[in-house]
Amino acid sequence: MAMQKLDVAILGATGAVGQRFIQLLEGHPWFQVSEVIGSSRSAGKSYSEAVHWVLDGNPPAGIAALTVKALDDEFCSPLVFSALPKEAAMTRELELAAAGHVVCSNASANRMLADVPLMLPEVNAEHIGLIDVQRRRRGWRSGALVANSNCTVMPVVMALKPLVKYGIRRLHLVSEQAVSGAGYPGVSSMDMIDNILPYVPGDEDKMQTESRKMLGAFNGESIDELETVVSATCTRVPVVDGHLVNISVELADQPALSSVIADWERYQAPVPDLPSAPEYPLQYLYQIDRPQPRRDRQAGKGMMTSIGRLRECPVLGYKFAALSHNTIRGAAGCSILNAELMAVAGYIEGFRVADYALAT
Ligand SMILES: NC(=O)c1ccc[n+]([C@@H]2O[C@H](COP(=O)([O-])OP(=O)(O)OC[C@H]3O[C@@H](n4cnc5c(N)ncnc54)[C@H](OP(=O)(O)O)[C@@H]3O)[C@@H](O)[C@H]2O)c1
Repeated sequence: MAMQKLDVAILGATGAVGQRFIQLLEGHPWFQVSEVIGSSRSAGKSYSEAVHWVLDGNPPAGIAALTVKALDDEFCSPLVFSALPKEAAMTRELELAAAGHVVCSNASANRMLADVPLMLPEVNAEHIGLIDVQRRRRGWRSGALVANSNCTVMPVVMALKPLVKYGIRRLHLVSEQAVSGAGYPGVSSMDMIDNILPYVPGDEDKMQTESRKMLGAFNGESIDELETVVSATCTRVPVVDGHLVNISVELADQPALSSVIADWERYQAPVPDLPSAPEYPLQYLYQIDRPQPRRDRQAGKGMMTSIGRLRECPVLGYKFAALSHNTIRGAAGCSILNAELMAVAGYIEGFRVADYALAT
């Protein structure tokens, strides 16, 4: 007998990231979307009436017919994905976790709280141990709050994780970010066509703080951030999806370029198989002009990070480019992966992965 899938709610379901959640969760083996939540603009309407669908095709029929709920409604889904703007997320995510929901968030609001794991299973799965600290300190029994990073930080930490063993001393980052990273309707076409914007509000600071937390170590009680100096410049370019980051790095050791490429190609996450994880999270592209957003963002169904152009840097030693799909690996896909890890690790009450393995 097939097991009933776990009900999930999506906060901000009508936005750019919310739509990705709906698309990626269609046919998910463990989770099913049961509740969609929007702002007062959408609450009470059917999802198909409320949404301006920006992805290919149309919303799945079962979702299109759901009535959009308001953010202060009560939700019955044990698992909640948040794609809310920062201001709306700040207190509501904590309230929902306190009420017993497991909340996996994309918003920046609570990412840097000391007891909130800023997680990406292939990079820092052991940070999940912070959930025990969080529950103990806050008196939460079944609720939890897990965040994933800013979408531009994602290709940076994915590419750097295998290099942490060489000692990362200094980093210089220059991003070229897609327009979907600003949500919908996002940046005006008058600003974006035939243009590059040399400023993305808030993202340079996030590159500098979130990367250190994500690459840090869990000491049993908190995260010891990676001690490294980070300088970031963030720009917006006329690309629909896919954030490219040019990375220069100074390493304490001096590995050969071929060893670094081998580290990337061999890298596999030290976590159990998760339904949304690609077999290899990183790919190195040898063509001199790759990675490119249009050609490489869908690698591994949008979940792989593509790296290329590794060469010597006369300033910091090594430089290369890394690319991730910003609304898949950089947002909804990563949250789903975090939820899958929470499920496998037994942090979602009443949910046993073994039941699903038997049922499928
Ligand atoms: N886009 C990316 O690549 C990306 C990547 C990583 C993280 N993020 C983060 O993910 C979050 C969502 O980003 P997005 O790009 O999807 O933004 P978006 O396209 O502007 O969508 C925002 C969503 O939040 C809802 N919302 C807005 N104000 C609300 C309120 N007061 N109460 C309840 N719902 C409200 C909107 O509902 P209505 O449509 O009903 O107004 C919409 O569904 C942000 O925190 C962003 O920083 C985005």
